[in-house]
Amino acid sequence: MTAGAATYSVTVNGAKTPVFAPPSRRLSEVLREDIGLRGTKVGCDAGDCGACSVLLDGQPVCACLTTLAQAAGRDVVTVEGLPSAGFANLQQSFLRYGAAQCGICTPGMLISAAALLQQKPQPTESDVQDALGGVLCRCTGYARIVQAVMNANQPLPDPADPAGGAAIGAAVDRLDGGPKVAGTEVFGADFWPGDALLVRAVRSPHHAADFTFGDREKWRGANPGILLVLTAADIPGENKFGTIPAFVDQPALAESPARLKGEAVALIVGEPDAVAGADLDRFPVIWHERSPLLETEVAKSEPADRVHAERPGNLLISGLVRFGDVETALRNSAYTASAQVKTAYVEHAYIEPEAGVAWLDGDTLVIQTCTQAPVMDQEETAKILGLPKDRVRIIPAAAGGGFGAKLDISLQPLIGLAAIKTGRPCRMVYSRAESMMSTTKRHPSSMTATIGCDAGGMVTAMQFDGDFNTGAYASWGPTVANRVPVHASGPYVTPAYYAKADAIHTNGPTAGAFRGFGVPQGAIIQEILYDDLALACGVDRLAFRAQNAFVDGSRTPTGQIIQGVGIAECLAALQDPWHAAGAEIADWNVANPDHPRGIGVASCWYGCGNTSLPNPSTILAGIKPDGTLVLHQGATDIGQGANTVIAQIFADALGMALRHVTLVGPDTALTPDGGKTSASRQTYVSGKAAELCGKALRAAILRRTNMDDTAVLDLNGGALVAAQQGRKEQLDLSCLAPDANGYAISATETYDPPTLPLDENGQGVPYAVYGYGAQMAEVQVDIALGTVKVRHMHAAHDLGRVINPTLAIGQIEGGIAQGLGMALMEEYVPGRTENLHDYLIPTIGDMPKITSYLIEKPDPEGPFGAKGLGEHVLIPTAPAILNAIRHACGARITQLPALPFRVRAAIRKAGG
Ligand code: FES
Ligand code: FES
Repeated sequence: MTAGAATYSVTVNGAKTPVFAPPSRRLSEVLREDIGLRGTKVGCDAGDCGACSVLLDGQPVCACLTTLAQAAGRDVVTVEGLPSAGFANLQQSFLRYGAAQCGICTPGMLISAAALLQQKPQPTESDVQDALGGVLCRCTGYARIVQAVMNANQPLPDPADPAGGAAIGAAVDRLDGGPKVAGTEVFGADFWPGDALLVRAVRSPHHAADFTFGDREKWRGANPGILLVLTAADIPGENKFGTIPAFVDQPALAESPARLKGEAVALIVGEPDAVAGADLDRFPVIWHERSPLLETEVAKSEPADRVHAERPGNLLISGLVRFGDVETALRNSAYTASAQVKTAYVEHAYIEPEAGVAWLDGDTLVIQTCTQAPVMDQEETAKILGLPKDRVRIIPAAAGGGFGAKLDISLQPLIGLAAIKTGRPCRMVYSRAESMMSTTKRHPSSMTATIGCDAGGMVTAMQFDGDFNTGAYASWGPTVANRVPVHASGPYVTPAYYAKADAIHTNGPTAGAFRGFGVPQGAIIQEILYDDLALACGVDRLAFRAQNAFVDGSRTPTGQIIQGVGIAECLAALQDPWHAAGAEIADWNVANPDHPRGIGVASCWYGCGNTSLPNPSTILAGIKPDGTLVLHQGATDIGQGANTVIAQIFADALGMALRHVTLVGPDTALTPDGGKTSASRQTYVSGKAAELCGKALRAAILRRTNMDDTAVLDLNGGALVAAQQGRKEQLDLSCLAPDANGYAISATETYDPPTLPLDENGQGVPYAVYGYGAQMAEVQVDIALGTVKVRHMHAAHDLGRVINPTLAIGQIEGGIAQGLGMALMEEYVPGRTENLHDYLIPTIGDMPKITSYLIEKPDPEGPFGAKGLGEHVLIPTAPAILNAIRHACGARITQLPALPFRVRAAIRKAGG
């Protein structure tokens, strides 16, 4: 870093700051690495994401594209400087309006908003959209952000501060939101000890290749500052990880062959400048490229080369659900409709690339990194490194988005290995390209299906077959293959049913978990066919769905009898907007035949938690002798709000005000296992454990005060007070002997959903709780260009019980943004779209108005009746948009995304 370095003076947040560095050093690096202001985030290093935005002489710029020389002698304001620049209220507005979910984009958003507010203190919606157009957010769908900016110079509503027993349903501020809006949140790349070494991976440039190494020591000797080169031969334990024990197959560092582009084959470890500056193209590895298998059609035809020798036909696993005589039912149906639908790889595109640091604390390896599954990280890293589990501690950093991909291990064993081998802290930060190349994607699918109905539009049967490209390694492929057949019917009564899904290996990116685990793909073909059938039998498309919808007591395709079913209520909530928009569109389309509008509807259901597998969460809580109430919450909050929602449930179960709750964790040394943050399980499963824990703690208090469950509990100063019918007891906590965790009184509870295995026909009870939803899209199509503008989404979701309406609406809006991207623009092409310039995700300007309808049909099993929501909200979006496109112009899209050329082709096919 010092070559050509000189001392420059930059005024940062009002203070003249000398910086000794080369003139070409990025301002983002100067701020983060040299000055230690890590509120400025780096999501792409290429000017695409805006996370690094700072004010330079009052104007927003990308710090990753601004050099030190350009900043010299000028005023730089970072997120940390916003309060003194007069924008504290803007930061509070972000908190109050729920504008920060994971928070990684928040500093960039705040900076861009501050620049706007300087010019225009009372901006309009379109002012905000213009000003924030260069900053990407993958979580929120932008609507809360727009609200927060528009209201930043208004008096803010007071924060909700619910009394004991009233936390559920209150729109309380995100409990972990303060640091997110202050720019002090610690993400994976934001903390490292001063003497940390840097680690980089050497990765395969080929989809499939054998490889050998040349003289690594000679290369190391020629690169001063590189201390170590590590390969698979250096791994002391079992060089294999995975997410499902029976399918563990992925090496931390590949031994020849490499099975996907971007697979890590070696590590270089050393002083940060030397590692950052190393030319990895000259690293001594000799590649022998193989002919890659990239298409499932080819891969399953049993080619000479298999991706994994032990998996014939490259078949990882098949999932199957069947009952009834489908063939006869379809034959006897008044109408049948069939389709083939293909979907693309979809990239998670969280704004935070993978990052973390490892160090040794005595004989314990500590790893601080962004993750959705700390206990799984602990177990898999310990196995790879040959350590007992209790000698690995995982401290989840704040995750700058995850959406499923941060369930899988990435750099955890790599930095762990480097720290053990060097004895020094070791740090790794993936580049955007590394993140996109090497981590998991949504499964591309190729699906065929036929659905039948009778003359009145009652569904008679469904047949579904899907090939899901699971890429090079198993990851969550088995989960997708099992979950899709369970859900492919949609939330509709289907009297005869056959659904099979195959997860097939290729040399493409490993496909894993991504919001919905394959269910969004299946919903697309099912909902397209429902429109076909409704049109064929002359039943209104929304009514068609309503008349076939599950109700309490319905039988699902797996034979489960379900209760607490809210799909009918969701569809009913769309009735008014459906008919109003339908009438409006009819007039519009007569006057505007070149830009017709259409409406479409689609539904979802989704089982919360693992499919027929154990899925427990444990919650510990206690009150210290000084009266501090502590909740040990091990479920990672990746922006979805688990920290807040689980605390709200706990507070009400305990019967104390939420403001008394102090959160601890997650941290494998401090919190019990809250399970993975996946499959919309945390509100339900960890929430249920929190409910049980709160009740158990309450019962323990009531036993000591000799009161029944009608007692009112409170913490007053350090004292625990219980009151009942005029009697008041003050429990002197300091007199109680503290337990091993230091608590005067405590409780620990575990909850595991009651499921049953699926038999060979897929019959059983795969999930204990389901959530439901329906969405309606209003779109406008440009007939000449094939472009689609989504104008308005209406989203009705049954949450069972709304724990926090602000967070729930934020989830819906964010899910719709991802569903819109999947429908219209997102297509990851290995080797071609490994950046956020070529891989497009929705920007603030792409988002429609969203109207949310929160439905509460309590679930008999969920905590206070609550169901999960996170995955559900994405599922109906794409099919609702596709059905609206067809309604507008007749284009029946069967390959996603609906890029303009595909829309044009479908319009032509429809005779337009
Ligand atoms: S990090 Fe600078 S624009 Fe993405
Ligand atoms: S809150 Fe915007 S990227 Fe997560």
